[in-house]
Amino acid sequence: MKEMNRTLELIQERSSIRRYKKDPLTEAEINTLKRAALATPTGQNFQELRYAFVTDQKIIKAVDERCFHHNPEMLDRLKSRNADSIFYGAPLVVFVSAKDTTWATADSGIAVGILALAAQSMGLGSVILGMPRAAFMPDDPENCCALLGMEEGEKFRLAIAIGHPDTTKEQHDKDPAHIRDFLG
Ligand SMILES: Cc1cc2nc3c(=O)[nH]c(=O)nc-3n(C[C@H](O)[C@H](O)[C@H](O)COP(=O)(O)O)c2cc1C
Repeated sequence: MKEMNRTLELIQERSSIRRYKKDPLTEAEINTLKRAALATPTGQNFQELRYAFVTDQKIIKAVDERCFHHNPEMLDRLKSRNADSIFYGAPLVVFVSAKDTTWATADSGIAVGILALAAQSMGLGSVILGMPRAAFMPDDPENCCALLGMEEGEKFRLAIAIGHPDTTKEQHDKDPAHIRDFLG
């Protein structure tokens, strides 16, 4: 077996990108990402994940504003990263939502992981996002659930911002001590 192949290289090369060029993604790129999302395996094949592919910056801004409404301090934290949006100016954001099932949390993590690697393989950058959850709180009558077409009982799980990187970032430290060997 070869020690490295292109997929393994992409896994090692990926890092979170927090600044994007304005260039939009092509329709073909978006369709490729949609097919990648639909290839996500789900526990017991429940397939309860729903994906909102959003390039409409008005929607992205509305989610930002609802987050800042609940957490005004978020904006200060972003400013320290030279950003004014929790989506860092990405031309595409994919919101993953699901009704409550045993596997919804795990499934959504796998989905954004697959999307991150798909984006990387296409020469795009990405960052996985939990912060948008503040805009989707069920007890907030002005939450953004309807804006993204979520059905009754569907909850925001994770999002991923994707676009052409306008920055680079070192990969995080990888600590071999986090692995326990029982290799017989
Ligand atoms: C579940 C999850 C939620 C995350 N939420 C955010 C977020 O809301 N905002 C953000 O800037 N980064 C977020 N990140 C990115 C992490 O901060 C990042 O993956 C981590 O610092 C490691 O860096 P790397 O992705 O470059 O390896 C999230 C990552 C994961 C896996």
